[in-house]
Amino acid sequence: MTVRVAGIGTALPDKIVTNHDLAEQMDTSDAWIRERSGIGERRVGGLTSTMAIDAAVAAIEDAHLSPADIDFIALATSTPDHTFPGTSTKVAGAIGAQCGAMDINVACAGFPYAYATVYGLMLTPGGPERALVIGSDAMSSIVDWTDRSTAILFGDGAGAAVLERHEQGALLGQDFAVNGELRSILYCDLADTIKMEGREVFKRAVRAVTGSIETALAQAGLTTADIDVVLPHQANIRIVDAICQRLNIPMEKTHNVLEHTGNTSAASIPLAMAAANDAGALQPDAIVLMTGFGAGMAWGTVVVRW
Ligand code: ACO
Repeated sequence: MTVRVAGIGTALPDKIVTNHDLAEQMDTSDAWIRERSGIGERRVGGLTSTMAIDAAVAAIEDAHLSPADIDFIALATSTPDHTFPGTSTKVAGAIGAQCGAMDINVACAGFPYAYATVYGLMLTPGGPERALVIGSDAMSSIVDWTDRSTAILFGDGAGAAVLERHEQGALLGQDFAVNGELRSILYCDLADTIKMEGREVFKRAVRAVTGSIETALAQAGLTTADIDVVLPHQANIRIVDAICQRLNIPMEKTHNVLEHTGNTSAASIPLAMAAANDAGALQPDAIVLMTGFGAGMAWGTVVVRW
């Protein structure tokens, strides 16, 4: 018995902010933002819990289940509604699930961490049979809207996956790491806004994710040629491109949403997962790679047989 994804759901706030809107507020342009990041617009005004709840409900529906079937909830977020209780408890309350729930904060790398954590829990004796793994972040609430070097990059959103014990699907390899000495290149203090050395994050992200994918694939006894689908963290299309070039993975195997969402932190991988699903790429037995990086500096990769 292993664990498969049985349903996927997403949620985005209604309000769209285009690059042109930002160019009216600060010294930037649509052309610069598109060329440097691949982002065209982002959604703002979301609340982490509300988006997580909407994505969770959609994922449960997609799995043809009801909230009572959910035995565990893990919510990856670095923008919780409150210091405590965890935002995952609000999700449990709102959908009417009486089960364990926890928040996981690994910034933009949160989703693969949450996926592997819940996967492991589900395979322990007495572990949950069906669980929600959610990524939800309201990045617009921690962005300095006067700082053109960060404000252009981020957006709000949520994505959720229902995991269930099943014969189909398996986690084949994983790699998780942090370099805690790199806090200064990307952080957000309590009640403050995002501070980032973009160029440094870019360089280190490419290096870290490339190594992480190699490690996770080696563990799975696979090579890059075996990969069918890549769900990369949606920070910058040039980062995705640089990683693919280094590993000789065709860009066509990656699924990206950042043109319309910006960087939604922990939500970005499940949003990419939903896009891959809509494109019909998530077929049984497909080899799917989820890989993320972010503040910490932290990174993580899981290789999954769908
Ligand atoms: N519009 C116009 N010009 C700008 C803007 C802007 N919005 N922002 C910066 N510039 C200028 C800079 O001032 C600089 O000007 P100068 O050459 O006169 O000094 C020039 O553009 C180049 O700036 P760089 O920072 O070198 O541009 P770069 O090509 O590195 O792109 C970017 C910047 C898009 C931020 C890129 O470095 C990047 O994506 N970095 C990674 C960010 C990331 O992945 N963050 C992950 C977050 S994950 C998490 O945990 C939250």
